[in-house]
Amino acid sequence: MGRFNALKSMTMSPTPLIIAVPKGRILSEVLPILNKAGIEPEPAFADEDARQLQFATNAAHVSLIRVRSFDVATFVAFGAAQLGICGNDVLMEFDYSEIYAPLDLGIGKCRLSIAQPKDLDEGLDLSRLSHVRIATKYPETTSRWFAEHGIQAECVKLNGAMELAPVLGLSPRIVDLVSTGNTLKANGLVEVATIAEVTSRLIVNRTALKVRPAEINAWIERLRKAVE
Ligand code: PRP
Repeated sequence: MGRFNALKSMTMSPTPLIIAVPKGRILSEVLPILNKAGIEPEPAFADEDARQLQFATNAAHVSLIRVRSFDVATFVAFGAAQLGICGNDVLMEFDYSEIYAPLDLGIGKCRLSIAQPKDLDEGLDLSRLSHVRIATKYPETTSRWFAEHGIQAECVKLNGAMELAPVLGLSPRIVDLVSTGNTLKANGLVEVATIAEVTSRLIVNRTALKVRPAEINAWIERLRKAVE
């Protein structure tokens, strides 16, 4: 190391490490894993009502941001966060080349399913259809799945409350995440096919991993041990 670099490394503070985590009900499963890996966020992080978006932790230079799960992938893909936690539903939808997903955290278990009203005239058998209209937050994944099954899917993009679409006549079917099945049931819908089983993954920005391999690999290993 030259004299200038040695001086620089002594005087400059290390680059912060940002971990993007999804807000919502998954947060209660994420926190124990972070704690086990040695990351304890400031108290406001666990408060769903806090307006704060970035949170300090006990780990030097590590901070957390709390964003929607689709945005976790965007922050990490563009390198604005180096690490993140999001479901494979999000990774399937965007297929970002800059994202590496080394670890299944085994939390946020649910499935991405096709659902429709239980008494729909066309019946429950999708294989007889040639064209469907689907309301979903996942148009890419949905079109791909239907194309693989020889059906043309016309997707209507919604960002939430998908279950309202069949009820109000926007589309007879939806593709959405199902966990307990209570939301479908409450809206008179039934699952007719599963597109994918979903769990949360640790994701890493590939460039950050190349530039800061020791530091980022150490965090991957700590998180791996935390979920073992
Ligand atoms: C998800 C999903 C369903 C619901 C399914 O929404 O979009 O609406 O959970 O869960 P259940 O099978 O246990 O009823 P979420 O509550 O995460 O909020 P969102 O609408 O903002 O995605």
